[in-house]
Amino acid sequence: DKGNHRHFMAKEIHEQPEVVSHTLASFLDMASGAIRLPELPFDWRSLTRLTITACGTASYAALCAKYWFERFARIPVEVDVASEFRYREVPLEPGGLAIVVSQSGETADTLAALRYCKEHGQHTLAVVNVPTSTIARESDVIVQTLAGPEIGVASTKAFTCQLAALASLAVGAGRARGALSAEDEGRLVQALIEAPRLMATALRLEHEIEALAKDLVKATDVLYLGRGTSFPLALEGALKLKEISYIHAEGYAAGELKHGPIALIDETLPVVVIAPFDRIFEKTVSNMQEVAARGGRIILITDEQGAEAAAIPTLKTLVMPQMPATVTPIVYSIPIQLLAYHTAVLMGTDVDQPRNLAKSVTVE
Ligand code: M6R
Repeated sequence: DKGNHRHFMAKEIHEQPEVVSHTLASFLDMASGAIRLPELPFDWRSLTRLTITACGTASYAALCAKYWFERFARIPVEVDVASEFRYREVPLEPGGLAIVVSQSGETADTLAALRYCKEHGQHTLAVVNVPTSTIARESDVIVQTLAGPEIGVASTKAFTCQLAALASLAVGAGRARGALSAEDEGRLVQALIEAPRLMATALRLEHEIEALAKDLVKATDVLYLGRGTSFPLALEGALKLKEISYIHAEGYAAGELKHGPIALIDETLPVVVIAPFDRIFEKTVSNMQEVAARGGRIILITDEQGAEAAAIPTLKTLVMPQMPATVTPIVYSIPIQLLAYHTAVLMGTDVDQPRNLAKSVTVE
């Protein structure tokens, strides 16, 4: 049932404050401000390495998690797409932890990566949305995202729930490893608790984004740029746009601009810059200047402080609420998804069932 929405994707985008809140509630002890982790057959303190594998959108959630686990838990993390990981003969020390991330829990490559990790002595933890799935059944520990059934082929709410679960795990791991103090944990938990309300605020940008889609629909290519956890979000933004609107899009780490993609920039190229006002904001601004100097049309997604500090003419600046850095990928997913959605609607594509795509990729 789509409710009063035109597509499942729209409904699922709008459900996010609620389902992210449910997902967080299974980890966060609201009263004490602490993280509650599931029963684990390993000790976070003895882990020397974390391997995360996934496909598509789930792999971008995994990439975001790398930033969090490194920062909060001080643990080395390898992230790879499952289709590459499974055939690389990755050397793994027994006793490490392998996390797989999958909405369906049935993705063939992700399942094969999980099996490889088990065979090579890794503890396994699956972040899955479908608890009865094969991946869930074959993992030592299940962390369920509570997104509910996701019908749209383009993943939206499963992604933000994956982010919420992985951020909680990273904070919990940080605390267990002594890398975070109780005070740090309290501050991060507070930030996570705020995420659903901030997502609801971000949804109010929908009309502005719908208007912006009229510009995007004329483009043949779109570039997405971001740094830090906004880099995986740039990859996700580009994937979302191409899969449902069929407009070619690329996501890049903003610092990579000079190393190639800058050659693409001219007056016809929209460049979506995801840049919350954070400790690397100035670096992204200098990349934006490079885009502006070559006539690229910038769509800046930032907050009030960022909009003021950027001082660069843009085609459009979407002003998000101010928020702690930890939750930006969760909340900035909303404008990214809405932009792809409204562009696809204008293109007249089959938004919920885009051509050539399947919801669950159970063959290689
Ligand atoms: O079910 P999974 O999370 O394992 O699926 C992984 C990818 O196939 C999936 O995220 C795909 O990239 C989506 N179409 C993205 O919107």
